[in-house]
Amino acid sequence: MIFAAVVAGGVGSRMNLFGMPKQFLPLGKSEKPIIIHTLEKFVFCKNFHYIYVGVHKEWIDYTEELLKKHSLTDKRIILVEGGKDRNLTILNIINAIESNHGKSEEHIIVTHDAVRPFVTLRMIEENISALDYCSACDTVIPAVDTIIESKEGNIITSVPKRSSMYLGQTPQSFKISQFKELFSQLSDDEKSMLTDACGVFTCKGKEVRLVRGDVFNMKITTMSDYKIAGALLGGDMSD
Ligand code: CTP
Repeated sequence: MIFAAVVAGGVGSRMNLFGMPKQFLPLGKSEKPIIIHTLEKFVFCKNFHYIYVGVHKEWIDYTEELLKKHSLTDKRIILVEGGKDRNLTILNIINAIESNHGKSEEHIIVTHDAVRPFVTLRMIEENISALDYCSACDTVIPAVDTIIESKEGNIITSVPKRSSMYLGQTPQSFKISQFKELFSQLSDDEKSMLTDACGVFTCKGKEVRLVRGDVFNMKITTMSDYKIAGALLGGDMSD
């Protein structure tokens, strides 16, 4: 089966506005919440058997109301409690999938940040079809700026060759059984260091294929991202 996992379990500590996690903020002229913009893209994709959404436990009732308010009543959407970090939110979703639909080597999952509302059907479908010939894939864009590495944050440690540098986005997709197996092999230190799911694969020496992302598939992290994203959807950019 093919599952979507939209991760919305964060609290948005880098951007606090209206006392709510950023995925619930209104966006653009329609003022629809960010998470609704994102979920609409997933509902549009008919390949998914189910669309799981991982939400912080204090925001589950609120999210349910929001889905009703915005007529997102697609029966494929299932809310589950998020985890302490992003990968643990994914793991909670995987556990819910296995308890609801059983374990299978065939289950694949397309994970996506709720705060990337500009994901396209093309990206989602290319993630799904990449898994016909690999176990994991990541959506990326080529780096246009030179990437500078600084281990201490005050002097340059290295300047990697730009032509082999990419910026990771989401969706990130993989075979559920592989992710679980690899995640269980990580030490606690490795688990806390890895901020994304593909890191779990690369950390254990597994191949992760690249899928073409888009500069518009931005992650809303800061106030300026929020303003840019709002402007792209016809909202007012002024303070
Ligand atoms: N996320 C999640 N569970 C967590 C932490 C993050 O599902 N425990 C989700 C966020 O809701 C978001 C995505 O992962 O959709 C990307 O994370 P990020 O932008 O870092 O979001 P936050 O953790 O909410 O933000 P911050 O780091 O500023 O607190």
